Amino acid sequence: MNQSELKKVAAEHAAEFVEDGMTLGLGTGSTVFFLVEAIARRVKAENLHIEAVATSSRTAKQASDLGITMKDINDVDHIDLCIDGADEIDKHFQGIKGGGAAHTLEKMVATTSRRNIWIVDESKLVDTLGKFPLPTEVIPFGCEQVFHRLDAEGLHPQFRLDDQGQRVTTHNKNFVIDLHMGKIEHPHLLKQFLDGQVGILEHGLFLDLVDTVVVGTQDGAKVLPAIR
Ligand code: 5RP
Repeated sequence: MNQSELKKVAAEHAAEFVEDGMTLGLGTGSTVFFLVEAIARRVKAENLHIEAVATSSRTAKQASDLGITMKDINDVDHIDLCIDGADEIDKHFQGIKGGGAAHTLEKMVATTSRRNIWIVDESKLVDTLGKFPLPTEVIPFGCEQVFHRLDAEGLHPQFRLDDQGQRVTTHNKNFVIDLHMGKIEHPHLLKQFLDGQVGILEHGLFLDLVDTVVVGTQDGAKVLPAIR
């Protein structure tokens, strides 16, 4: 199976965690695309009554086109289960997200949710975080100052550019600065530093948030037990 097929394996397995009556959080990305399809199939086949909050307009449109009832996050009093993809995960279930620049909305939904499941293909499992550049979302006002601060700290910042060489903007019209660190030896310390930086709206370090990881492997879907 190729990477896309492995993503599908993980997504279809995770769709089985959805129960009638749930309010769901739906992530963003190519793995979540398969998840939304699988959930929509179950909703139809089993007449499930669920509603969902999306972490991007892309996911919201796909889900609503497929007949899933979508809610604004401000109109739900809780989220039972959030299922999302990830860019890297270590064995303690600490991870990096934001490859699709949706990490601020994703973190809002994840931290609101009672339970979080990540769905990944096996290439996303790592010993040490950081090979995947860590995304930050930075407000335009003063973004060059933030950039210099990150650079001075040795975090190897780069503005994320699109195919035309223009700065990528997020849902909130902010910029993305990726930190090309190679290795993140102390994720909690880095999180503390980034959380304290004026101008950084949010970053893609998702620590101590995930309960279950479903991995697509050549032998099928595997549910990883958390080691905390
Ligand atoms: C978007 C994300 C995605 O979940 C992450 O990039 C994984 O994407 P994919 O499922 O396409 O590999 O964090 O901001």
